[in-house]
Amino acid sequence: MKKYRIGILGLGNVGRGTYDVMTDNADLIKQRLGADYEIVRALEINPQAIERTGIDPAKVTDNADDIIKAEDIDIVVESLGGIEPSTTWMLTAMEHGKSVVTPNKAAVAANFQKLMATSKENDVLFRFEACVGGGIPCLTSILEPLSGNDFLQVSGILNGTTNYILSKMYDEGLDYDVILKDAQEKGFAEADPTADVEGIDCANKLSILISLCFGKYIPPMDIPRTGITGVDKAQIEAARAAGNKIKLLSYASLDENGEVDCYVKPVELPLSHPLSGVNNEYNAIYITGNMVDDVMLYGKGAGPHPTGSAIAGDIISIMREYNR
Ligand code: HSE
Repeated sequence: MKKYRIGILGLGNVGRGTYDVMTDNADLIKQRLGADYEIVRALEINPQAIERTGIDPAKVTDNADDIIKAEDIDIVVESLGGIEPSTTWMLTAMEHGKSVVTPNKAAVAANFQKLMATSKENDVLFRFEACVGGGIPCLTSILEPLSGNDFLQVSGILNGTTNYILSKMYDEGLDYDVILKDAQEKGFAEADPTADVEGIDCANKLSILISLCFGKYIPPMDIPRTGITGVDKAQIEAARAAGNKIKLLSYASLDENGEVDCYVKPVELPLSHPLSGVNNEYNAIYITGNMVDDVMLYGKGAGPHPTGSAIAGDIISIMREYNR
């Protein structure tokens, strides 16, 4: 039976979640796949992260080259976060013949074209489902079952932390700071929550959705963006009185000239809108295609295990390709 060898860069919340999925469900996955695999090595320097993951410390390295250039690794999972050194390490891994899986939306959005081109040049696979919508299989849906459509619009609630904060402000009247701390403890918010609350994380995800739906690359920094730091209790209550809810909406469509019209900003959605029922750390991606009409994909958009589930799906899809 063929055996595939996996290396993980980073055992933070997402790396640990991936490790859990790939070890807790190993028997089931191997049976479905008809092949064997092993997590051979992980890069991590934080002793608490190593202990919390439960990985054999002998498999842990502090040198990325032991994974991205290693002879005995077939698939690299990059779960470090941040644009660099993540991008360089993903490119190096591809140049050394490894397929790459990442949930790193900042790196993918910033370097989408380079990463795609390098994977093609080196004849390796590059998968990034977990970059958008955590555990929701939205990118694969756009690339495969929905790919017969001319996409008219893509929108959604793409950030678990801000949706959690806005939901708790609306439902429980809690203060922003208290809820943010809670979201960080639950592992949704980034270590530095600026990217979440300022809409930068949403802009990264929307940039990826625009590339896949419309075949146009819009750098995240060019997407007009407003975060939720200016949303206060009075606005939440005014929206409620009008029969609406404030949601951080990410939106993109093509105008009559074929140009992308896009934004990330807090908007008041009527309670009848399907996206207004998406609460807490849940995300939803609302896609309109010229043939399928409206499709909404819903699920947990953040957290170690939902995100680990999407990464595991990408790893399995690569192993399935290799195992044909
Ligand atoms: N910080 C992100 C969020 C994690 O809250 O949605 C998932 O991308």
